[in-house]
Amino acid sequence: MPREDREAAASVAVSIRKIGKRFGSVAALDDVSLDIRRGEFFSLLGPSGCGKTTLLRAIGGFEAPTEGDILIEGRSVLHLAPYERPTNMIFQHLALFPHLGVRENVGFGLRMKGAGRGEAMRRVEEALRLVRLEGYGDRRVDQLSGGQRQRVAMARALVNDPAVLLLDEPLGALDLQLRLQMQEELRRLQRQLGATFVFVTHDQGEAMAMSDRIAVMSAGRLQQVGTPAEIYERPANRFVATFVGHANLIEARLTGRMQDGLAEAEAASSLAITGHAPPTPSTDGKVLAVLRYEKLRVRPPGASEGGIAATIQEKTYMGSSLRFTCRAADGVTLTADTPNGEPERELAEGDTVRLEWSPADVVLLSS
Ligand SMILES: Nc1ncnc2c1ncn2[C@@H]1O[C@H](COP(=O)(O)OP(=O)(O)OP(=O)(O)O)[C@@H](O)[C@H]1O
Ligand SMILES: [Mg+2]
Repeated sequence: MPREDREAAASVAVSIRKIGKRFGSVAALDDVSLDIRRGEFFSLLGPSGCGKTTLLRAIGGFEAPTEGDILIEGRSVLHLAPYERPTNMIFQHLALFPHLGVRENVGFGLRMKGAGRGEAMRRVEEALRLVRLEGYGDRRVDQLSGGQRQRVAMARALVNDPAVLLLDEPLGALDLQLRLQMQEELRRLQRQLGATFVFVTHDQGEAMAMSDRIAVMSAGRLQQVGTPAEIYERPANRFVATFVGHANLIEARLTGRMQDGLAEAEAASSLAITGHAPPTPSTDGKVLAVLRYEKLRVRPPGASEGGIAATIQEKTYMGSSLRFTCRAADGVTLTADTPNGEPERELAEGDTVRLEWSPADVVLLSS
């Protein structure tokens, strides 16, 4: 193996190789391959039923894949039981023992593994300190708030000092404020421990805010793997472009290539659109132009000669931002989100405006 390959392999915590999982006629996972790096905060993002839990359970050993292999720290783990793997899982439904105390819940796995009493006590206290629950050891779980229960589940997973922590929507049941607070805590914990976290969520904002890298999934298949910025700025296909953030999608046809990886296209309405060229253009030249709502600028009458002319059809007040749905002169409807401030807040439905954007903010996808 060349040196670079050896080094790359050494930095991989979990290697998923052509994994498939069928439940009867349902393909919950279909040919999924991906490498999760050591010390990485890695998220699996996708809509309900896309296979996130199934993939996490396969890594943890709770589900046997129908095809493919899973390596952890360079070693195939398919023949290992969950407790033999260097992983720990926080389940989508917490599975705490409500009638037991916090300390018993956290120490449960340790006693199963035969840790001595003193050693177990020390590690339980350490885990409770990590999740900021010191002093709660004697409380019963059913006397805790939702957020505190979540922390108990985390402490229970951390107490074994796993190389890889698998977290299945651990914040799903929490209200927004607590959720944001726990997001920060989880990120802090991950950095502090330097462990590999594989985090499942269907919330794109949460995935963006927390992850080093994200895998976007749909219907059992991997759609794209990248940093939050790569996923957001350069979506690989229509699914990613619409699942993550809000985007105008314009059907168009390639008309020419330009330098710096840009290409020109023309929409059915004869609107000219320049953007990042698709890596592999389709033979018929059809493309889908992706332009995010907030990359579109709405310029009041007289403020600009650039861009294209349009009429505001709908103005929606969204608190921190304003949403304008506009109809361009050549029939295309475009939506723009702008910060709620001057001068845009004065604009009204029926106003004629100019819409401007930068070619660097347009992604052309082969469709
Ligand atoms: N034990 C099972 N038997 C049969 N089908 C299953 C089983 N577990 C999961 N599935 C199916 O496999 C697919 C993927 O399920 P999975 O639980 O992995 O989705 P998910 O992405 O975690 O969804 P959610 O966000 O709702 O938790 C779904 O169609 C589901 O119905
Ligand atoms: Mg799930």
